[in-house]
Amino acid sequence: MLERMMSMRRGAHMEDDEGDEEGIGDESKTKKHLSIATRITNYFTRTGYLCPIIILTAIAIFTISSFFVTSRDLLCVSSVSSFDRLSRSRFFGLDGLESDFGSLGVPWCRSKQGKTVEWTSKDLLQGLEEFVPIYETRPIKNNMYGMGFDHSFGLWFIARWLKPDIMIESGAFKGHSTWVLRQAMPNTRIISVTPRHPEKYLKKGPAYVDGNCTYFAGKDFIDFGSVDWKTVMKKHGVTDLSRVLIFFDDHQNELKRLKQALKAGFSNLVFEDNYDTGTGDHYSLRQICDQFYIQGGGHSCFEDSDEARVRSRRKSFWEKAVDTRELCGPGEAWWGVRGYMRDDFNHTNKPISYQQHFQNSRFVESILDVYWELPPVAGPSLTHQTRYDPARAPSPIVEDGRFGLFQRLGLSRLEKSVFNGYTQMVYLQISAKESS
Ligand SMILES: C[S@@+](CC[C@H](N)C(=O)[O-])C[C@H]1O[C@@H](n2cnc3c(N)ncnc32)[C@H](O)[C@@H]1O
Ligand SMILES: *[C@@H]1O[C@H](CO)[C@@H](O)[C@H](O)[C@H]1NC(C)=O
Ligand SMILES: *[C@@H]1O[C@H](CO)[C@@H](O)[C@H](O)[C@H]1NC(C)=O
Repeated sequence: MLERMMSMRRGAHMEDDEGDEEGIGDESKTKKHLSIATRITNYFTRTGYLCPIIILTAIAIFTISSFFVTSRDLLCVSSVSSFDRLSRSRFFGLDGLESDFGSLGVPWCRSKQGKTVEWTSKDLLQGLEEFVPIYETRPIKNNMYGMGFDHSFGLWFIARWLKPDIMIESGAFKGHSTWVLRQAMPNTRIISVTPRHPEKYLKKGPAYVDGNCTYFAGKDFIDFGSVDWKTVMKKHGVTDLSRVLIFFDDHQNELKRLKQALKAGFSNLVFEDNYDTGTGDHYSLRQICDQFYIQGGGHSCFEDSDEARVRSRRKSFWEKAVDTRELCGPGEAWWGVRGYMRDDFNHTNKPISYQQHFQNSRFVESILDVYWELPPVAGPSLTHQTRYDPARAPSPIVEDGRFGLFQRLGLSRLEKSVFNGYTQMVYLQISAKESS
């Protein structure tokens, strides 16, 4: 079981090319300029091609100068945000680092009333400042195949914000996420549901076993969907189920988990691995909500399409980017993963029709009050991550080019490999459909 998970997470590697950020430590310089410099530098660092560098430099000079000419005109008539969008899409073509959010089609789940979370990007920044020193004291320094920095921060932030009466996690591995929950809420009961007790890992190396955690593990393991939650909650004195936080990191079909959580009456859920369309070992919210009516959603399997071209270009930059051949299975099936609804680390693999996939999205949207994806903590030129495709992720909390801020927050002290696990962790609030 772990094996598969390991192969999915393999590939995290560290880059040892330090010092390519010189000249951008001062973020008082205008952000746009820095960001351009960073992007170009980053391209060179990443590819290491010599000849294309010369050609690209020429293209870059041309692009930059034409960008200033065009944007000067544009600025007179249009808003700053369209200026921003224009500059981004120009550079998307140049270095493939980032694109306008949504140009490749970023599937968001629509909530019933369009409600969103209370916290702002300022709160996230403040949280980051607080969390970095905490993260540095983590007992499991190398949590390969488990959570990295981005999701650890997200889970900590959400738990601390919501201040639940009890926290339940499904899928603990060595216990890193249990530790994260404990840092957020020092005195709150945790229930950890995981086949192998984290104490088993202690024999071989670092692991975390919590003193105020009830483990459904080892011989006491019972799947989340089979637990009698009503009785368990009562036993722990929890009467208000809206004050329970559930964290899923067990690589199960998220539609299945959603239905189980709803049935038990829970409403606050976090899914660690919210895999993008075409990737992952289980059916995810991202995949479910990827629909034709979302900008760029509902993919094209036509090999000569614009999407195919963009995809194959981005594939060369980002490990998790998938090209059209990987995205589409027989019969042009792109939903789920090539028409399959994967479950349990891809141990079960059920084919579904587009019709069923569409019905699944309707169901999800009918119970969804909030859908919030954690942004990556920092832009890829800062974190040196190469895995998730920034074109299909929200803008990072610390944007590319803001090296000064990155450094001030202490993020530059962390090993680069801790930034390689971002998979769009998502926080949901759900409630039963309005009776009809
Ligand atoms: C990706 S790891 C979890 C990583 C962990 N949350 C962390 O902080 O690093 C997935 C875990 O899910 C466990 N698992 C497998 N099937 C499960 C199930 N049905 N319910 C709960 N956990 C399960 C695996 O044994 C493994 O420990
Ligand atoms: C468990 O939590 C209580 C407070 O709720 C605290 O007094 C106790 O020290 C904790 N036990 C451990 C082992 O952390
Ligand atoms: C998932 O399982 C299917 C069939 O069992 C297999 O063809 C596919 O390669 C697997 N994918 C991954 C990523 O393990």
